[in-house]
Amino acid sequence: MRMYDLIKKKRDGEVLSEEEIRWFIEGYTDGRIPDYQAAAMCMAIYFRGMDNAEISALTLAVKDSGETLDFSEIEGIRVDKHSTGGVGDKTSLVIGPIAAACGVKVAKISGRGLGHTGGTVDKLESIKGLRTDLYKSEFIDQVNRIGLAIIGQSADIAPADKKLYALRDVTATVDSLPLITSSIMGKKLAAGDDCIVLDVKCGSGSFNKTVEDGERLAAVMVDIGKRAEKKMLAVLSDMDKPLGRAIGNSLEVIEAIETLKGGGPEDFRELCIDLAAYMIELAGKGDTEECRAMAREAISSGKALALLEDMVEAQGGDPRWIRHPSLFPKSLYSYEVPSPADGWIYRVDAEQYGMASLALGAGRNTKEESIDYTAGIVLAKKTGDRVAKGETLATLYTTEKQGNIGQAEKIFLTATDIRTEAPEEQPLIIKVIR
Ligand code: URA
Repeated sequence: MRMYDLIKKKRDGEVLSEEEIRWFIEGYTDGRIPDYQAAAMCMAIYFRGMDNAEISALTLAVKDSGETLDFSEIEGIRVDKHSTGGVGDKTSLVIGPIAAACGVKVAKISGRGLGHTGGTVDKLESIKGLRTDLYKSEFIDQVNRIGLAIIGQSADIAPADKKLYALRDVTATVDSLPLITSSIMGKKLAAGDDCIVLDVKCGSGSFNKTVEDGERLAAVMVDIGKRAEKKMLAVLSDMDKPLGRAIGNSLEVIEAIETLKGGGPEDFRELCIDLAAYMIELAGKGDTEECRAMAREAISSGKALALLEDMVEAQGGDPRWIRHPSLFPKSLYSYEVPSPADGWIYRVDAEQYGMASLALGAGRNTKEESIDYTAGIVLAKKTGDRVAKGETLATLYTTEKQGNIGQAEKIFLTATDIRTEAPEEQPLIIKVIR
């Protein structure tokens, strides 16, 4: 087989066989196929799409690119949730500890920042010394010991996704249904979870711009999970505005810690309670209302926060940063964006808020680029809020890219639509697919 022929076949809209898809994934994982050919294939998939059999073959090939965890290795019911990606989406840092505090096992494989969205692995690595590259044996041992571990795709587990994910991030090939499905479900199947909650984001800050796009993605992922005998639940949630107020790695970890302490922005806290409740419910611990009450209690009792501390310590980070977030390094520069007008924040382009955060240094332009963990945005005003001319809309933070503050401000203001009328309120959870 030649990679050239497979790229051409997909470029011309033909269907790839299971054997061809496996050959591509195996060859890219072991380095025989170079980045430029894999990037061309991702672009061909982006434009031509894949049928369900191809998506399924791609997902299984990603899963099989490394080791898989089997049911006997972790004691108890393993439940995971995975988001399709959004701006300010730090839910995993809150619901992982909540679910674990409620007695389910959370063995989570997350990703780094992707396109304009942030990633849990980058957020966690803003805690100095914290390792997200545990070996399989360390990962299993930690989950059995404390109930929770969050790692990235590694040389052991889903290595094909590790490489493809980094490549897609910098080649404008993220928002493709087959690539998102195989990335998310390949990781989930490799982790051998029993139950999976999918948080499918819909709206301007998501890769699914419409609810219909989100529904299609949810249906394909749920179908793949069910065929692998997983208990599946998908939530379609609003990503027309960023989640919470913080966008950017350490800023988001600090907001997640505040939420586990019982504070945090209301929209973010309530979504976390709901998602954690669905995880606990899928594990068979009660009905949705009972599980919501358990999730709230895990926060009010401090158990979930203690679990995050335990996880940080187990993975080599300093747990004192969790009790005392003032220990996180501060950005060198900050700038308050004044409102150009009186009115209401009518709507925002959340993707562009993500782009403004990238301009400040919170994400990558090339695979090799490092991240400024202190960079990002904290919103003072969100959609539906009233604002006076000159009042602060948001604070921009950066250490590495002081010169980009002007550019970030411009992107931010262009993405903020201020009008003399208030917008209609939108529900955060659009739909639950059981
Ligand atoms: N999350 C993932 O893990 N992969 C994607 O492609 C998108 C979101």
